[in-house]
Amino acid sequence: MSENNNPDVRKGLYGVIADYTAVSKVMPETNSLTYRGYAVQDLVEHCSFEEVFYLLWNGELPNEEQLAEFTTRGRSYRCLDAGLIALIHSLPKDCHPMDVMRTAVSYMGTKDSEHFTPDVDHITHVGHNLLAQLPMVLAMDIRRREGKDIIAPDSNKSVAENLLAMVFGTGPDSPASNPDDVRDFEKSLILYAEHSFNASTFTARVITSTRSDVYSAITGAIGALKGPLHGGANEFVMHTMLQIEDPAKATEWVNNALDNKDLIMGFGHRVYKKGDSRVPSMEKSLRELAARHDGAKWVEMYENMAAAMDTRTGIKPNLDFPAGPAYYLLGFPVDFFTPLFVVARIAGWTAHIVEQFEGNSLIRPLSEYVGPEQREVTPIAER
Ligand code: COA
Repeated sequence: MSENNNPDVRKGLYGVIADYTAVSKVMPETNSLTYRGYAVQDLVEHCSFEEVFYLLWNGELPNEEQLAEFTTRGRSYRCLDAGLIALIHSLPKDCHPMDVMRTAVSYMGTKDSEHFTPDVDHITHVGHNLLAQLPMVLAMDIRRREGKDIIAPDSNKSVAENLLAMVFGTGPDSPASNPDDVRDFEKSLILYAEHSFNASTFTARVITSTRSDVYSAITGAIGALKGPLHGGANEFVMHTMLQIEDPAKATEWVNNALDNKDLIMGFGHRVYKKGDSRVPSMEKSLRELAARHDGAKWVEMYENMAAAMDTRTGIKPNLDFPAGPAYYLLGFPVDFFTPLFVVARIAGWTAHIVEQFEGNSLIRPLSEYVGPEQREVTPIAER
């Protein structure tokens, strides 16, 4: 028996404050979220993804000169690596795209001469490298599955436009050629960039706390993000909507799922219980994308599912609920929605890796043992 008969065990670390952070603040009581003190909806309206990336790393928004220096450096990492291309093409075409992202990061780690993180400059270097390479990996993976050639990166384009151009090309029908599509996509990247001690960020911090390396931390984080209870939800939202097919059937579908005690992806949150602060901005982009891309059906599906869920349970949508159909309207294959989340979250993960590295304490919680009492080993012949 334990000496303590009433240990304070919090399954899922529910409600546990594990450390301090200055990167972002989630305020469930007011449905708000700030990155380094700035409300996320203001950043979405006024900033580029690169400005937000700079803010998360440096704590302040850049001036024009600082931003130019930052983007020039970041874009200098945009070169196709022959080894990485060969690796991606060697992977099964039916594997999950998140497995490709995870494998790519792990491979990139093998090419880094630093086996363990030496200093913050190295974390910055790896962050730039990942932000340049992972959109290429994602685009390459989409196109190889469709039997199409790779499109090289363009160092004159923003992260958002460059990613869209590498996936869809630059023809007149490509979202890369439509500034409104580029901007709505960029807004999703800003909203996905950071969210305090979520499961993948905490994974990255745990790995960093052992004084391992950045690639290992991000590889682990990608594994955590893949799960449908975390980032994988955006993919499952769209699978659900496609399965329901007709918005008129959404209410019945939701009620049946709830009767069966099924989880409905894109709803609920461990921290927000009255609504996710990021949803209004993403919902606005979804509506704009739908207006431009004949997507009224998906807005109706969104509204009907949300209303049915609210009526029956009061559980609100999270960011993945509007992001799923928004990415669908942009033309991305559904199982690539979570890899898009990876590209955005590189910003938050690396900001947290810096914070953990600078103020490190090995993360090693305790557990309350509930197995058998200590006992004698009986030799196998006597069992
Ligand atoms: N669909 C159906 N029921 C849900 C639900 C959902 N999406 N989210 C929560 N619930 C139910 C729970 O099953 C629980 O029911 P119970 O009391 O009968 O056991 C109740 O609501 C309270 O759940 P709560 O404690 O608030 O959830 P949590 O903090 O443990 O889990 C999530 C949070 C995110 C894991 C959960 O809401 C979920 O699985 N959502 C779907 C996946 C998703 O969209 N993930 C992305 C998160 S950003």
